[in-house]
Amino acid sequence: SDNNKVRDEKLLAICQLLNENVDYYNWVGFYFANHESKTLHLGPYVGAETDHTVIPFGKGICGQVAESNANFVVPDVKAQDNYIACSLTVKSEIVVPLFVNGVNIGQIDIDSHVIDPFTEADERFLEFVNQEVAKLF
Ligand code: SME
Repeated sequence: SDNNKVRDEKLLAICQLLNENVDYYNWVGFYFANHESKTLHLGPYVGAETDHTVIPFGKGICGQVAESNANFVVPDVKAQDNYIACSLTVKSEIVVPLFVNGVNIGQIDIDSHVIDPFTEADERFLEFVNQEVAKLF
């Protein structure tokens, strides 16, 4: 619909702002949950193309956040066994769930090319971003 198109343009603009303004945010995207099929689906993103446009709940960092409803900060992706590699340049990742009326409808996913860049300030900031994003739904 037109509403979804406008929303996706806003989500893409948010991805672009984050990617351009934080040195260590090197891939920024949103995944959205389908609770019937228990899969995540890639939405607007900025950065390298990825083959992982559909991720089953439980799989990878993203799939785990779909089930845990909690932030997941990965300082070093090599130390994770349940991890889906998108690019060999990615060293670390942060995933923050997106809640609309208390329901986990998806997440913001950020990959970094440096080791251990994400702090609690990133978590608080991305929680705020997602609270603003939630108002679009
Ligand atoms: N690394 C993620 C997959 C998505 S890509 O980072 C874009 C994961 O393990 O869930």
